[in-house]
Amino acid sequence: MEASLTLTKQELEKFADIAYRETGIRISPQKLELMNNRLSRRLRELNLRSFRDYLEMLQRPGSNEMSNFVETITTNETYFFRCPRHFRLLSRQILNTFQSPTIDVWSAACSTGEEPYSLAIALLERMPNARNRKIRIFASDIDRKVLKKASDGVYGDYALRFVRPEFLKKYFIPLNNGMYQVIPELRQMVLFGQHNLQNPFPKGKVDLIFCRNVLIYFDDQSKDQVFRNLLGALRPNGYLFLGESEIVPPLSGVHRVEASVAQKKG
Ligand SMILES: C[S@@+](CC[C@H](N)C(=O)[O-])C[C@H]1O[C@@H](n2cnc3c(N)ncnc32)[C@H](O)[C@@H]1O
Repeated sequence: MEASLTLTKQELEKFADIAYRETGIRISPQKLELMNNRLSRRLRELNLRSFRDYLEMLQRPGSNEMSNFVETITTNETYFFRCPRHFRLLSRQILNTFQSPTIDVWSAACSTGEEPYSLAIALLERMPNARNRKIRIFASDIDRKVLKKASDGVYGDYALRFVRPEFLKKYFIPLNNGMYQVIPELRQMVLFGQHNLQNPFPKGKVDLIFCRNVLIYFDDQSKDQVFRNLLGALRPNGYLFLGESEIVPPLSGVHRVEASVAQKKG
């Protein structure tokens, strides 16, 4: 018989502390039901009988459950060309200012890959002389499961609903099961790797960062730290895009292009 699992407020606090330490994500008490559902699923997979057993498992020295826990609590919602305004700004005002023969882009918190592949399409379509330049897109996430899906590059209708028909034809191969796979040219442009945004990233290496719809889950303190890391990773005159509902805080050395987009001063 399967036990029905009810996460208590105290247990949620303990899981929230672990989540905060590992990822910077703040889980509020209002997420009790959501976390109850997500964690119950993981308990069933592990054949555990209580949340207390799961907490013990996570805290056991040498436990390798932590990455599964992180994958259980993260929200991975994404789709191609999310926030069209950002892609318009990029195409109309930013890509034509990039002069160097090599362009480095970082999709930080890329989830299942729709964002970095959208960036690859935008750069190929709208950056002058794109095919004679070297475009490198590094796409990272803390969650290994989404990275696996991202490197397979196979998507269905939900993810593709805002892709223009001519781009669908040009950049995707229809598969027998109704899904579409991104073409090899795009897959070769994107390098996927695991990275926790709380960890430092090499300084001054990228021209463009998309770090969208992830800092909303962080508290001000972790957000500030990540924000500084991201600005540090940019080359002078490089651009940082946050999610459309996020706001770049006023900081010296940064010019705000719009509420969610910043340029590092040269
Ligand atoms: C909602 S998705 C956003 C995907 C994409 N950027 C977009 O806007 O459509 C948030 C992603 O952030 C990742 N994430 C959460 N905490 C992270 C951290 N500390 N470091 C790196 N990625 C993290 C999650 O695994 C998830 O895939």
